[in-house]
Amino acid sequence: MSGHEFQSFFPESGTVDMTDTTTNIDDTTFAELRQLASRYPEARSALLPMLHLVQSVDGRISPVGIEACAEVLGITAAQVSGVATFYTMYRRRPGGKHHIGVCTTALCAVMGGDALLEQVSEKLGIQPDETTPDGKFSLERLECNAACDFAPVMMVNWEFMDNMTPDKAQQLIDDLAADAEVKSTRGATITSWRAAERVLAGFPDGRADEGPSAGEASLLGKSIADEKGWAAPKGGKS
Ligand code: FES
Repeated sequence: MSGHEFQSFFPESGTVDMTDTTTNIDDTTFAELRQLASRYPEARSALLPMLHLVQSVDGRISPVGIEACAEVLGITAAQVSGVATFYTMYRRRPGGKHHIGVCTTALCAVMGGDALLEQVSEKLGIQPDETTPDGKFSLERLECNAACDFAPVMMVNWEFMDNMTPDKAQQLIDDLAADAEVKSTRGATITSWRAAERVLAGFPDGRADEGPSAGEASLLGKSIADEKGWAAPKGGKS
């Protein structure tokens, strides 16, 4: 293996930055954390949405957020931290107002995902897992978003930007930087990463029905089947 080095695409892996003790968590946050915990027969089942709520309030998984989840659920901070550092959707450092993801898994890569990531990185002046100094953008190299039929795909605050091109990516970032109204290619209005995190926590913003539930490319097989009168074989024993 000499001369070769393993390069992780998950540089966020590791512990939460315990030295940054800043927080916006207040009594309202605690009340909402308790509300989330009360939604499940086993309170600790609420930990994942609770961590999304922490991110919506603090812009990252903060030490105070970890302690708050542990206190509400009656588990240890180490148990909360273990979960928070396992999943890539939980950030150890503050994200930007807009969190940009570029998929570079196989299909998106061959359709231009690597070039898109390079271009977006250059335009923002940051590398993946970094945030711009003005706090407006953070960037992430994404694994497959299960939207391969729209490759190459980007995400903004977890909303899809399908069939991206370098020109569309430039325009998208310019519009977001100018605080212009931007819509996902599937219809949803782009708000902010923190607002999206609050929705993921389980506090809907009323926008769930913006745009279609499935795009044309995903429905192509069904359209062809409808046109030709094809149907799935009946189940049961042969
Ligand atoms: S490879 Fe990019 S969405 Fe599947």
